[in-house]
Amino acid sequence: MDGRPIGIFDSGVGGLTVVREVWRRLPNERVLYFGDTARVPYGGRPAFEIEGFARQIISYLQRRGAKFVIVACNTTSALALDTVEREFHLPLVGMLRPGARAAARATRTGRIGVIATEGTARSGAYERAIKELMPGAEVLSKGCPLLVPFIEDGRAHSPEAMDALRDYLAPLLERDIDTLVLGCTHYPFLEDEIRRVVGPDVAIVDPAGETVEVASALLHDLDLASSARTGPDEFTVSGDPAGFASVAEKLLGSRLPRVARVDLQESLASPGYRYREQRL
Ligand code: DGL
Repeated sequence: MDGRPIGIFDSGVGGLTVVREVWRRLPNERVLYFGDTARVPYGGRPAFEIEGFARQIISYLQRRGAKFVIVACNTTSALALDTVEREFHLPLVGMLRPGARAAARATRTGRIGVIATEGTARSGAYERAIKELMPGAEVLSKGCPLLVPFIEDGRAHSPEAMDALRDYLAPLLERDIDTLVLGCTHYPFLEDEIRRVVGPDVAIVDPAGETVEVASALLHDLDLASSARTGPDEFTVSGDPAGFASVAEKLLGSRLPRVARVDLQESLASPGYRYREQRL
C-alpha cells in the first residue's frame, strides 16, 4: 500500500484525457497533475527544449512526493522520454508504446493513420513503435498544429476546428486507413468530431486506456499501488489556474477539485524547495 500520488503531466488540458482513465480504472490512486499552460503548445518546439521542460516538471512532481509519473503528452514521450528517463530514480510511463500496441491490436489491414503534433509526427516515433510490433504495417502520420490551440482556447467544438479536422484527415482517408491513432492527448476531446469525419468503419485508438493499464500493472509489480484513496487529487499549472479550470470543466463536463498556479523555476530554485503556489 503506497498512498503517495501518481504524477501526471502535459503541456495543458490534454493530459486530462489520461486522468479520466485513471479515475475510471484506478479509483484508489490519488493524482497530482501539472499542466504547463504558460508554455503550451509543445508541438512545434525542438527536442532540447521539451527535454528541459520534462526535467523541470518531473523534478517538481518528484519533490511533491509523486511515486510514479505518467508522461501524458505524446510530444514529450516522442522527443524527450528516452533521454530523460535515465536521469530519474522514478518509474515513468509514456504514451507511445501503449498507443502502438493498441493500434496493432485494432488494425485488420495494417494501414494505420496517426494524427499528432508536428513534433511527434516528424519524429517518426509512432512509426517505429508500431513497426516493432508489426513490421509489415503501413503507418501514415499527419501533424495537426491547429488542433491544440483550438482545444486550449475552449473552441474544441467550433466549426473552425471541424474544418481543420476535415483537412487534416482527408489525406489519411484517401490512403484507406482502417485505424486512426489519436497521437496527442488533447485529441480525445475531439473524438465525436473525428468520428463524424472518418465514418463508422475506421477504428479510433485513444492510447490513454492502454497507457493506464500499463501503469496499473507496473504499480502492482513495483509494490506501489494504493488500496485506498489517501486524499483529494491536486491540479497545478504554470499559467492561469482559472482559465485552465474553466476549459477543463467544459471538456470534462465536471469541475476539477482545485487548481493552483506553480512557478516551476522559483519552486525548484528555492533552498530546501519551498513549495509556493497560489490557490484558486
Ligand atoms: N498533448 C500533447 C501531446 O500529446 C502536447 C500538445 C502540444 O502542446 O502541442 O502531444
